[in-house]
Amino acid sequence: MNHVELQLTGDGSHTLFNAEINETYHSHKGALAESRYVFIHAGMDAMLEQTQELSILEVGFGTGLNALMTLLRTREFSRVQHIKVRYTTIEPFPLAQELIDGLNYKALLPEDAAPIFDALHQAPWDQDVEVLPGFILRKVHGRLEDFQGQTDSVNLIFYDAFAPSKQPDVWALDNFRKCFALLQSGGMLVSYCANGQFKRDLKAAGFSVKPYPGALGKREMTRAWK
Ligand SMILES: C[S@@+](CC[C@H](N)C(=O)[O-])C[C@H]1O[C@@H](n2cnc3c(N)ncnc32)[C@H](O)[C@@H]1O
Repeated sequence: MNHVELQLTGDGSHTLFNAEINETYHSHKGALAESRYVFIHAGMDAMLEQTQELSILEVGFGTGLNALMTLLRTREFSRVQHIKVRYTTIEPFPLAQELIDGLNYKALLPEDAAPIFDALHQAPWDQDVEVLPGFILRKVHGRLEDFQGQTDSVNLIFYDAFAPSKQPDVWALDNFRKCFALLQSGGMLVSYCANGQFKRDLKAAGFSVKPYPGALGKREMTRAWK
């Protein structure tokens, strides 16, 4: 992928810039901070108030940052209370190893995050792997559009696709219908995106949509429940 390059964001963590679509993988204000806020604080922590078993589906594995943050939070949480996490993540375009090696997340996080980050990336595609006790990872090599998941099987969706203006196909109503079917009743979809058409389409798919303050000064992000 020679059209993808490393970029520093406002909190000192890296993101990747995809020149082909002129888009970064994370907020330019802070990749780590955005992941922590949108997916961990507003997503995972909120669901853990209701259940100790999470079945998460991520749209776009990319750099593995959300998976890493989820795993670190699982480990932190498990010191107080036993929780189980199944993390399924979909990615049609896995990154080249040299790009993964260039990311600075290992240097910015506690030392023991490094082997976990490596384990996430070394895990084979399309297989369940117990990366740590209580945390099962499955990286699905493919597109959300082609994903054959079980109805009512997940309780949290991380919708982390490139912006609707850059990759409109991934924000098609059919994808939200699919997400709705995959979610258990009471399950939630979270996204950094608060685009009006996105929210209308979520409602059309059956979701109850609730705006939520966005990360890093952004006015809004989206949380949507089944
Ligand atoms: C905004 S990036 C975020 C990636 C990741 N969550 C991270 O923290 O690095 C969007 C990701 O969605 C992937 N993607 C593109 N088309 C997709 C599709 N149809 N289904 C699932 N993922 C897709 C991209 O390749 C990219 O890795």
